[in-house]
Amino acid sequence: MKSLMALSVVALVLVMGCATDQSKEIAQLRQEVSDLKVLAGPPPTSLDTLYPPEADAPVYQIKMFEMEAPFTGIAIETGKGNFELAKAYFERFRTQYLEVSKMVPEWEKEYPLEPVEQLGASLETGEQDKIMAAFGAVAGACNDCHFLNMPKVQQKYHWEDCSGIMVSDPVTKENVKYSQFMVNLNVSFVGIGLELEQGQPDNALKHFEALNSRYQTLKETCGACHQTEREYYVDDNVQALINTLGATLRTSSPDTNSVRTLSQQIGMESCMKCHWLHIPATYAKAQWNERKQGGEE
Ligand code: HEC
Ligand code: HEC
Ligand code: HEC
Repeated sequence: MKSLMALSVVALVLVMGCATDQSKEIAQLRQEVSDLKVLAGPPPTSLDTLYPPEADAPVYQIKMFEMEAPFTGIAIETGKGNFELAKAYFERFRTQYLEVSKMVPEWEKEYPLEPVEQLGASLETGEQDKIMAAFGAVAGACNDCHFLNMPKVQQKYHWEDCSGIMVSDPVTKENVKYSQFMVNLNVSFVGIGLELEQGQPDNALKHFEALNSRYQTLKETCGACHQTEREYYVDDNVQALINTLGATLRTSSPDTNSVRTLSQQIGMESCMKCHWLHIPATYAKAQWNERKQGGEE
């Protein structure tokens, strides 16, 4: 009987142990999921009121610069041993910091007060090392948020969205979405090499003609976001490569190696480098929109 009781106590302890372990694990997983959501998700929606089109100007960004100037002033004056002026900058900075911390409710806890108060206290000591260490701690809080959120805010509010751009495809004569135009461009680009591989130089040339005319259209699409002439990706250097590719394909038996090399150069200098620059913001936006439509956020 005694041993039976002991056994059931052991069993109970085991079950409880499991239960607490599990709830701890669940809490941990919940935290992880919420961290990952912050990492992969869009910036807090209350920022919408601080950026165009809802606001007249990028209010939050302007506030950042207003906060940064006196903050940097603290370090400059400390370096000069001018502690009174450093303290004056600190007061200005502190006011700005408190104001900014309330602008985005979701981020209030990302503006810790303690390191700021410690920076204030360190300024009373007049010891440069101490002050700069306290300054570094505040800068650390700035960076914690910047590393995680600055790229997302830039992508959401400073990059135009290409999902709204319609392009008139010169080959199919259809009006297509920008992403569909890219697919069409890709078909003519990749088609050249594939047809040549199959021993069909005439078809390869047809794909080339389509590529070249789509390329002229591609040049015009930059104007949807850029006002100045483009010096990369669709400039005369790339057009020269395309022209050489055309000349090579028009010879009686096109040299496969030259075609491959020229295609790789075009792919690298135009398609690839333009993608490295423009795709991150485009896909971040697309992913956030998809989630919104999925009802997750
Ligand atoms: C503005 C510079 C730019 C240039 C130059 C450019 N692209 Fe793109 N491309 C984009 C952008 C932006 C997207 C994303 C469009 C979207 O999803 O809305 C894209 C998407 C694509 C896609 C779809 C990728 C996928 O699978 O998700 C393909 C394929 C593609 N481009 C091929 C090409 C080829 C081939 C060239 C060169 C002949 C080229 N692009 C040149 C900007 C560019
Ligand atoms: C809770 C998040 C957060 C904290 C904390 C924060 N920032 Fe920022 N900061 C941002 C975001 C987001 C941007 C991007 C704004 C934009 O581009 O519109 C930014 C942009 C800036 C910029 C402009 C950079 C550029 O090149 O566009 C400066 C300067 C700046 N912050 C200074 C600071 C300083 C100094 C601190 C700390 C004392 C700080 N920030 C704390 C979120 C934060
Ligand atoms: C959907 C909007 C959009 C389209 C379309 C677009 N860009 Fe951009 N591009 C940007 C943004 C935003 C930046 C970064 C800020 C800036 O430079 O304006 C940028 C930056 C650049 C830069 C680096 C900065 C500079 O101005 O030199 C180059 C080069 C560039 N784009 C080339 C192109 C070319 C070439 C095309 C057309 C084939 C193109 N872009 C189409 C949005 C776009």
